[in-house]
Amino acid sequence: MPAQPDLAAVPDSATATAVALSAVRHEYRSGGRRILALDGIDLRLAAGESLAVVGPSGCGKSTLLRMIAGFLRPSRGEIRVGGATVTRPGPDRGVVFQQPRLFPWLSVHGNVAYGLREAGVPRRARRERVEELLGLVGLGDVGALRPYELSGGMQQRAAIARALAPDPAILLLDEPFAALDALTRERLQEELRAIWLRTGKTLVLVTHSVDEAALLGSRIIVLSPRPGTVVLDEQSALPRVEHARDVPEFAALRSRILQAVGAPRS
Ligand SMILES: Nc1ncnc2c1ncn2[C@@H]1O[C@H](COP(=O)(O)OP(=O)(O)OP(=O)(O)O)[C@@H](O)[C@H]1O
Ligand SMILES: [Mg+2]
Repeated sequence: MPAQPDLAAVPDSATATAVALSAVRHEYRSGGRRILALDGIDLRLAAGESLAVVGPSGCGKSTLLRMIAGFLRPSRGEIRVGGATVTRPGPDRGVVFQQPRLFPWLSVHGNVAYGLREAGVPRRARRERVEELLGLVGLGDVGALRPYELSGGMQQRAAIARALAPDPAILLLDEPFAALDALTRERLQEELRAIWLRTGKTLVLVTHSVDEAALLGSRIIVLSPRPGTVVLDEQSALPRVEHARDVPEFAALRSRILQAVGAPRS
């Protein structure tokens, strides 16, 4: 194996770093109590990488994602996106949550178009972009329906299209398929992989599922129980093809992640 360059010594601009976390810690303070959620997180994510974050419940996965999204500030350390320190949410980061959180009073088309309208994109360009996105997520024929007329899987597809609408460089997903049945979940995992391969977006995907991490991560980190620290940082050897569940490397990767998830803290 060739030696890994010391990325900490290289400026972001020289490595096309999309997201950089340096010595990040987050402590919640509520009702006089302090809860240390995460500590000592150092990560550099290259543009176009897909980072899967796995770890036990309560280890700080959502906290990590919310900090990258800009909803939450680190208590210590720094997060940079595209070279700039994150202080708030921005159009360079699209977020998809476990629940689709669509606007019930708007059609699917209206939901996906929402951010574009806010950004002042003209009507015609908006319509073209929404149609392209609905096609990408397999909702080409339901743009006129309201969210309550869709299945859970379709709603989550619409939420992904909405997050992609402003063409963010980075897509942040917090257990996006956890509320779905197993078959829909598998299908959407395949679709998200295809979207990643086609668009070249940088992805950060939080998941409880080892399979999901192995399938969707070009890189996988496993966090320890709270306070979350990185116990495995693994580059995937899976070829960049669709339907990667069938390739021989998948099972080996899956078992390495499983081992790290189950391993006691060092
Ligand atoms: N707003 C908050 N105030 C106080 N403590 C919080 C808050 N949000 C999260 N925590 C605590 O911080 C820790 C990390 O929470 P977080 O939601 O990031 O975990 P998680 O890894 O996403 O868990 P899960 O897999 O169950 O979603 C937990 O112990 C949680 O109780
Ligand atoms: Mg969570």
